[in-house]
Amino acid sequence: MNKHIALLPGDGIGPEVTQQAVKVLDTIALRFGHQFTYTSADVGAIAIERHGDPLPDATLETCLAADAILFGAIGHPRYDNDPTAKIRPEQGLLRLRKSLGLFANIRPVSVYPTLAHLSPLKTEKVTGVDFVIFRELTGGIYFGERQRTASDAFDVCSYSAPEIERIARQAFHYARNRRGKLTLVDKANVLDTSRLWRSVVTEMAASEFPDVRFDWMYVDNAAMQIIQFPADFDVILTENMFGDILSDEASVLPGSLGLLPSASTGEHTALFEPIHGSYPQAAGQDIANPVAAILSAAMLLDHFSFHTEADTVRQAVRSVLEAGIGTPDLKAEKTVGCKEMGQKVADLLAPGNALT
Ligand code: IPM
Ligand code: MG
Repeated sequence: MNKHIALLPGDGIGPEVTQQAVKVLDTIALRFGHQFTYTSADVGAIAIERHGDPLPDATLETCLAADAILFGAIGHPRYDNDPTAKIRPEQGLLRLRKSLGLFANIRPVSVYPTLAHLSPLKTEKVTGVDFVIFRELTGGIYFGERQRTASDAFDVCSYSAPEIERIARQAFHYARNRRGKLTLVDKANVLDTSRLWRSVVTEMAASEFPDVRFDWMYVDNAAMQIIQFPADFDVILTENMFGDILSDEASVLPGSLGLLPSASTGEHTALFEPIHGSYPQAAGQDIANPVAAILSAAMLLDHFSFHTEADTVRQAVRSVLEAGIGTPDLKAEKTVGCKEMGQKVADLLAPGNALT
């Protein structure tokens, strides 16, 4: 099948990890007889440098015309150290999410048994960890009315029932196809938006998804439970800001930030990106871990309903890790660079190669 993919490599290590994900996609295309074509576009700090805009119109058009978007990373220390900067790389990503209506951010968190010793938690705590965070991505405090004067500021958090229902429905379906459990994370003891989430989702659980075990947790408690009993979670559903914080907390469980992928889906073209940032100190040094980007490409394949292809990629990644091969962050038996890591995965995927 023919598919057209927009590549938005962005900043820092974004370009080099995206390149390895493309290498893997090209090998999958060969193995399964697909044809993938690509158009690259600028986003983030590089786009500010080149076009004065973190999300140039041409980039948005490229995204709208594509079947999927493979995103690298954005961010540059120049902007982090300057809170007064009017134009920031992050605005590019936020505008992209809003323009494409990407309301569901899906972040699977699992721990490779061979890498469990790298986790900041004890191995027995992270054994069997396999959950997915559904984070609402286009509403809440991120996109509310805001204002700042020299001495005052506010950011409004608002949600409507339809905004909650559309992501909740996706999350319930997802839970139904997994271990059948959904946990809503909110702060309904304090916030009215959370009370709305609680009532909408509780009602849906009873009327549409009686087969899914539904519970809820206050966000402060959830922050503790993710550390104490991470293996107990299946699907976590939450609003934008809580999801941002909890997904970063959860992302350290596997022992390296370089391992986890994400998908953002919604009204227009879906976007796939590693959860790690632009890691500017490592840029261009061939030490970045491409696994998160490669697994994001696997989620992209799933989105095309190429499930066998996606599973094959995940299998190849697992085999490479189990063979003790890894980038420096994985402290592997055999340390390789970003390019070689991508190549090892691609080699396993070469046509005719039987994967075990
Ligand atoms: C993320 C990031 C973004 C967010 C930033 C870069 C705007 O932290 O994707 O989680 O806060 O959503
Ligand atoms: Mg974040």
